[in-house]
Amino acid sequence: MNKYLVIGNPIDHSLSPKLHNYWFRENNIDALYEKKQIREADIKQIILDIRNGKIEGINVTVPFKKSVIPFLDKLEIPEKIQSVNTIYREKTIKGSNKIVGRNTDILGFKYSLEHIKYSAKGKKIFILGAGGVTPSIICALERMKPSTIMLSNRTKEKAKNLKKSFPQLELVEWGDIKNFDMIINTTSLGLKENEKIPINYDKIGSGKFFYDVIYNPKKTNFLLEAEKRGHQIENGKMMFVYQAQEAFSLFTMAPHVRMGLMPPINKKVLQLLEND
Ligand code: ATR
Repeated sequence: MNKYLVIGNPIDHSLSPKLHNYWFRENNIDALYEKKQIREADIKQIILDIRNGKIEGINVTVPFKKSVIPFLDKLEIPEKIQSVNTIYREKTIKGSNKIVGRNTDILGFKYSLEHIKYSAKGKKIFILGAGGVTPSIICALERMKPSTIMLSNRTKEKAKNLKKSFPQLELVEWGDIKNFDMIINTTSLGLKENEKIPINYDKIGSGKFFYDVIYNPKKTNFLLEAEKRGHQIENGKMMFVYQAQEAFSLFTMAPHVRMGLMPPINKKVLQLLEND
């Protein structure tokens, strides 16, 4: 039986095993996908296990998306981002033992917007946070040709660092609000029930789009405040599902094709994730 893992810390909340195991069953693939809480020092052994065939592939979540990189043989990610969430043994016809790192968060975010038919083209985008997932979101957004991408982070230094890779970013003081069409929370604020993002919601006009990368809880305070004022809201669930779909496709890739299985994202899949 082929073994897959999602690694992170914390990892309890992860719905990846549920989703991937469902897709494996649906496709009659004899595989088991589990979650594992790890420490930084465990990464080396896990990559070795992929090399030796004990593990077929892994997904990586907070806070290891960057720290796995030195252990990989081949990166298939945009140069500007140092973030890997999917790792597997390269499959080539000649045979290869290269360990490849990919990023499916970028497409996950893009597809989540397409899913609700939201076009960011020409829009003013305001990003909150400069953490692990933020570069992937900027990367996806810049391909959509928005008019502006503003970014605000509590620790200014991290925002400035991001601007080195993405010079088009307009940095905004933490707590300040500028005129925007779409605001995206990429911080971890809201994961805990009473956490609030320090912005003045009454200073924001009407008809804006609030997107939160967090999907558990379903509605963070950020989304609740927005909903109360009649703005459009979206949580990170579809981004999560689409990044998983891309990862599944990479895991099930055969040597002679670029893409593997693309399981449908239907009501049943969404229902599966609702029950938690
Ligand atoms: P990492 O920083 O290791 O990449 P992350 O969970 O991916 O971790 O990102 C955390 C994000 O949430 C950061 O933007 C962080 O802001 P700082 O860079 O200032 O730490 C933000 N964040 C977390 N707790 C916060 C808080 N209490 N107030 C404001 N921002 C917070």
